[in-house]
Amino acid sequence: MNPRNMGEIPDADGIGEVGNPTCGDIMKISLKIEDERITDVKFQTLGCGAAIASSSMVTELVKGKTLEEAWKVSNKNVADALEGLPPVKMHCSLLAEEGVHKAINDYRIKHDLPPWEEKK
Ligand code: FES
Repeated sequence: MNPRNMGEIPDADGIGEVGNPTCGDIMKISLKIEDERITDVKFQTLGCGAAIASSSMVTELVKGKTLEEAWKVSNKNVADALEGLPPVKMHCSLLAEEGVHKAINDYRIKHDLPPWEEKK
């Protein structure tokens, strides 16, 4: 009901845009990174309430974390921090995890580092 960190970072160091083809929802995560640590993070989400809540929560969870720590934040962590999501809405929290991963890898690729791999 009270999303945090909405918007876009104009000079973002990493941007991740992800979507779910089934429901058509899209999410964009922008990261500001200093010394391998996330110093600022914002989201823009066009989607359902659970997707907006998940994006807001993931920004709160990764802010201040190192990239390695942020990579480990799972969609389950996001859903738990929201005190649960209905089973049909779990895929919405997955967008948040994927958006952060994509933004981190965008930063890594821009710095000639190999992208980290998604676990299967
Ligand atoms: Fe698609 Fe929630 S219904 S992200």
